[in-house]
Amino acid sequence: MSNFSIPLHILVIGTGGTIAGLKTVSGRGYQAGQVPISTLLTQINSKFPLKNMQLSNIDSCDLSEPLLSELGIQVRTGLADPDVIGIVITHGTDTMEETATFLEFVCGGSARNFGKKVVLTGAMLPSDHREADGPQNLSNAIEFAGKRDGQSGIWAVMGSEPIPGLALVKGHSSQTNAFFGEALPNDWVQVSNDLPIPLDNQWPWVEIITSHVGARPETITFLKNHGVQGIVLAGTGAGTVHENLAPALEQFMKAGGAVVRASRIGRGYIGGSLANGRLAKALSAGYLNPAKARIALQLALFASTQSGANPLSWQDYFARIVGLPEFR
Ligand code: SIN
Repeated sequence: MSNFSIPLHILVIGTGGTIAGLKTVSGRGYQAGQVPISTLLTQINSKFPLKNMQLSNIDSCDLSEPLLSELGIQVRTGLADPDVIGIVITHGTDTMEETATFLEFVCGGSARNFGKKVVLTGAMLPSDHREADGPQNLSNAIEFAGKRDGQSGIWAVMGSEPIPGLALVKGHSSQTNAFFGEALPNDWVQVSNDLPIPLDNQWPWVEIITSHVGARPETITFLKNHGVQGIVLAGTGAGTVHENLAPALEQFMKAGGAVVRASRIGRGYIGGSLANGRLAKALSAGYLNPAKARIALQLALFASTQSGANPLSWQDYFARIVGLPEFR
């Protein structure tokens, strides 16, 4: 396939994952990110002209923040290109939720403004498996990306049903139908202003701390002393926090650290404040699970450092993108 001067095409960006995976020689297991996107595209029929770009070929468990930045920049470039009808990204399934969240907050507004779709897809079985799900997923994603049906924005196609990017959840570690869409409310407000993309070492350092039986505060103190800027609490139940962790998190916030309260359950809405008054100054993660909330917090922290006519705090940016009532 030639990549030269293809008018009106779909841009397919390969990043790796099981969709590009191959079984190991021993036959036990497989390695993700082995087959180039140009080869994967020979396995499908598309009614749209395609142009491909190999951004990386990795197991998505190794995804780095600078690579996310590069992806965001390529997606923005593609969205602004009048010859690009839509964009498809092949991606490992393990961190697809985080990439979808990142793209929603840095490119979602542009995608909607340009009336185009950005569609993530992947596979649960490697490309040389006899029941490989990748070719059908890729084909469905391309078909959906090219359809002019007014549903512009960030999406994922894993199977036949498109899932809005921000709602995407990997809910099973091995089944081929591993993904579902979290039910966001009908009045969910999508942000129209894209946040800036941090480059290289501009990404704020944010960690996830889990609350659990017998939790201990030392890790929080260690992180605080080593310059972590934000902590997402993967709390119990509705984002509750162990009494052993709360004082260390309070101290971290007093020292200027950002804390967001999510739930390790990974589904449902986390809002408001806790009845026991713990972490009253933390923001809640809304519909975002801890991994997604971490990306959102990084982007909100970075946005708050960018000078503009009307600078907002990280809390303002976070509340705005996550759809919290604190939005202003
Ligand atoms: C990965 O995330 O790259 C490996 C797992 C997968 O794609 O299913």
